[in-house]
Amino acid sequence: MCVEEVVGIARLTEKQKKIQEYLKTAWELSDRSIARILGVSHSTVGLVRQEMKKSGQFDHLCNDDSEWMNHPYIQANKGLLETLNPRGLRAIKRLDVLDYMMTHPQIKSPCVAQAYLEREKRQKRKDARVVLNINDVDIRVADVRQVGQFDWIRDNSVDLCICDPPWGKSSPVVCEGISKVAATKLRDGGSLLVLVGGSYLPDVITALSSDKRLRYHWLLTCKLPQGSPASVSWLKVQSKVRLVLWFVKGKYIGDIVADYIDRPTSDNTTDKSHHEWGAPEELVSELIRRFTDPGDTIADFTVGGGTTAVSSVLLGRRFLGTDIDAEAIKTTMRRVRRLFGYTK
Ligand SMILES: C[S@@+](CC[C@H](N)C(=O)[O-])C[C@H]1O[C@@H](n2cnc3c(N)ncnc32)[C@H](O)[C@@H]1O
Repeated sequence: MCVEEVVGIARLTEKQKKIQEYLKTAWELSDRSIARILGVSHSTVGLVRQEMKKSGQFDHLCNDDSEWMNHPYIQANKGLLETLNPRGLRAIKRLDVLDYMMTHPQIKSPCVAQAYLEREKRQKRKDARVVLNINDVDIRVADVRQVGQFDWIRDNSVDLCICDPPWGKSSPVVCEGISKVAATKLRDGGSLLVLVGGSYLPDVITALSSDKRLRYHWLLTCKLPQGSPASVSWLKVQSKVRLVLWFVKGKYIGDIVADYIDRPTSDNTTDKSHHEWGAPEELVSELIRRFTDPGDTIADFTVGGGTTAVSSVLLGRRFLGTDIDAEAIKTTMRRVRRLFGYTK
């Protein structure tokens, strides 16, 4: 149905269309206020409003809860409404934005107040202190190629998956499993980060894309610790950065993420003492900080010596982990239990 039919006016003039658009955002304003803002007559505004009401298509606007109109800030600053564009009007209808403007009188724009408010809320989520216990960590032996072995993890419940699969020829097969399990367990909008080597990258990307619920998002790079550049002699490459493939289930709605991680900086952060292929702890911690908030749930399906598990717990995130190797699981469990004060 076209706009003309909706309002029941045979043919809307440009002026009437403009009024209708404005009413869609600011139904609560009086005809006279809108007339003043748009430089038209209030009777024309009234006519367009009547026709919109009659059409029944805009009932959601007529029934709009206009609690915000009675907010003390609006009562004290009535003239402000006439200076706002549609974006500002949308922002000012939020009661938390109005409260914020009350307590921060130097801020005159609802859009600016909304941006500050969102930033403060984000910061609060990041700074929240979450006290975990051992039941917030679950680590088991499982083969990521067998999705049936992951029934104990609730579908759509994981906020972030971080995996560091083997980098050799077996990598694509393991990554195919990771793709399927991550796609099933991640919540909508959740991310899968996979630490990868360069040698089999095209096959690894294909394998990780094999479950269509996941989509490639970006490639992150991270500076490796001093003194630890890995040589790939058969390709004559000395690797000084760690590559991290970023996939998303659905649409990513998190914070902006820089794709170069200038950490770790210290020499001792590639921890090989717990696993032959232990990942750099500072990198893993940094990824966790950037992609999750305290209290979120992280999963690693190739947990190895437990870098992700330890970093998650230290940062107040719940953790679910698996590995095909029972010895690796024992090591990881030992490390995690120690964090909670257990001696065995
Ligand atoms: C590079 S290591 C992980 C190291 C770990 N990030 C750490 O910091 O200690 C790769 C791990 O993947 C595990 N793995 C290999 N194939 C697997 C499979 N099909 N299912 C689950 N884990 C697997 C290996 O046992 C190994 O522990």
